[in-house]
Amino acid sequence: MEPYDLFEYDVLIIGAGGAGLRAAISAREAGCNVGVICKSLLGKAHTVMAEGGVAAALGNMTSLDGSKEPDNWQVHFVDTMKGGGFLNNWRTVEIFAKEAPERVLELEQYGAVFDRTPEGKIAQRPFGGHKYRRLNHVGDRTGLELIRTLQDKAVGVGMNVHMEVVLTKLLKEGDRVVGGFGYYRETGKLVVFRAKAIVMATGGWGRMFKYTSNSWEGTGDGLMMGYAAGAELLDLEMVQFHPTGMVWPPGMRGILVTEGVRGEGGILRNSKGERFMFNPDYTPALYKGQFAETPEEAARWLDDKKNNRRPPELLPRDVVARAIYREVEAGRGSEHGGVYLDVTHRGAAYIKRKLPSMYEQFHALGNVDITKEPMEVYPTIHYTMGGIRVTPEECASTVPGLFAAGEVAGGLHGANRLGGNSLSDIIVFGKRAGDAAAAFAKQTTLGNIDESQITEELALLMSPLVDKGGESPYAIHQDLQEEMQKNCMIARTEEGLNHALEAILSLQQRAKHLSIGGDRRFNPGWHAARDVRFMLRTSEIIVRCALQRKESRGAQWRLDYPKLDNEHWGKFNLVAWKNGEQAQIEARPLDPLPDRLQALVEEQK
Ligand code: FUM
Repeated sequence: MEPYDLFEYDVLIIGAGGAGLRAAISAREAGCNVGVICKSLLGKAHTVMAEGGVAAALGNMTSLDGSKEPDNWQVHFVDTMKGGGFLNNWRTVEIFAKEAPERVLELEQYGAVFDRTPEGKIAQRPFGGHKYRRLNHVGDRTGLELIRTLQDKAVGVGMNVHMEVVLTKLLKEGDRVVGGFGYYRETGKLVVFRAKAIVMATGGWGRMFKYTSNSWEGTGDGLMMGYAAGAELLDLEMVQFHPTGMVWPPGMRGILVTEGVRGEGGILRNSKGERFMFNPDYTPALYKGQFAETPEEAARWLDDKKNNRRPPELLPRDVVARAIYREVEAGRGSEHGGVYLDVTHRGAAYIKRKLPSMYEQFHALGNVDITKEPMEVYPTIHYTMGGIRVTPEECASTVPGLFAAGEVAGGLHGANRLGGNSLSDIIVFGKRAGDAAAAFAKQTTLGNIDESQITEELALLMSPLVDKGGESPYAIHQDLQEEMQKNCMIARTEEGLNHALEAILSLQQRAKHLSIGGDRRFNPGWHAARDVRFMLRTSEIIVRCALQRKESRGAQWRLDYPKLDNEHWGKFNLVAWKNGEQAQIEARPLDPLPDRLQALVEEQK
């Protein structure tokens, strides 16, 4: 057996975004020794891509529907369920809506500096699908402030950070996870972590699509490590297209344009200058009556916060993304294949104050001055609603000792996530996962490492360095991205999905024989070889689930099954697990809403 470094922890946290850091804080405060693994550098996490705010019903601002009641968890609960097409786990959403305000206020105690109202309260802005101004924000850099704050706090309470370490396999003793195996990215040296409990907090997996706001880390390692260890996965077909990513210049395509632009009054137009979100075809019945019906009425809303009918640009993300897609398909797109997003009417000073990153991003990357001209935007893969199936209270997966929180976990967001709910997700369930992992760790001892599991994974890792004449992992990744972008995109069909499935199965065959040059040191090709295998399996499950769900709901838009099917599919999640070498997928009945929560939904109809 090749030598490896060995570390031992009560609680091992894989991933150092907001969920991982918040879990680290609570596990540490519970008295555990805690190790945190970062695939890249501490502080570099997809959390920063939630720019426009953290959603929590603090009730500091007025409602958007004319209600005199201050915002409250009940409305946030209903908005989140409604946004998620009622595929969400209701208990998870209830916990989330109730605890989000406390977690946001706690961030402030940790040192986060939020924008303020004139009276000195935390300022909140509107976002799609939220009935209230509910997005507590720091300009358009909210995720960054959240990471900065949690990082300071976590370092303060004391955790061991392992940067630029990739874990590729969870180690098991019997049913239970007892550690993780991987390597240092720089040197390729091997490393093993023994742990009493593990929190998976590795985020999402947008990199198998061509245009995404995800950076290179988002390859689904955590999801697939959990799957390989026996965890169940939930609703993987639900992949979110954020309506607005950059379109131009080509190298920047997919970079996020925050929903905060629309929250600050940004208007979407097509190439004919039409404000297409007023097209009644784009407004689902569920939302009828909530929106300003004329551009004049919507424009008044920007200045008169008592006017209760908001602009239709603030429909949920799935709705706006589909509308943009349809405009472009109908030949009414912008010069480079998107639509126009215009916020110039807010004035240069306001834009630079509330949207400083957008101003800089477009200026530096696209040579566009957004105070003077519109942006070009098109949907970009941003978020994965599905993930490891966990219990609402403890974030426990189906594998003893393995917990999951944040984007890698499924259940909270259903078929479509509302903007800003990701940041509150990671602080609410990061804390709960850290608490539960610490409690689990206290009741157990370190398990034994079975070196045969390491040897097996090492053979897989080494194969592209040893095999000659095989394919480049980059070529396979590129083919996968093309296929997923084309056939598992916003608009899906049986034919396209079957094509994608066949292509993925053939890519999986090709990926059995990969070859790369060099050795393990400083070798991105070697990392890519492991990443691409994770992405291929994840893509296969996404496509199989998308084929199985024969309806349109949230992020799953089937052109061949365009209707919501509440009689059948509205009652089922899709659950996947590893059965030998195959992914087994089953439609599993949703737990029905209890009467007390059903009553809330009825009240707000
Ligand atoms: O548009 C945004 O600022 C993204 C927020 C989110 O994904 O929650």
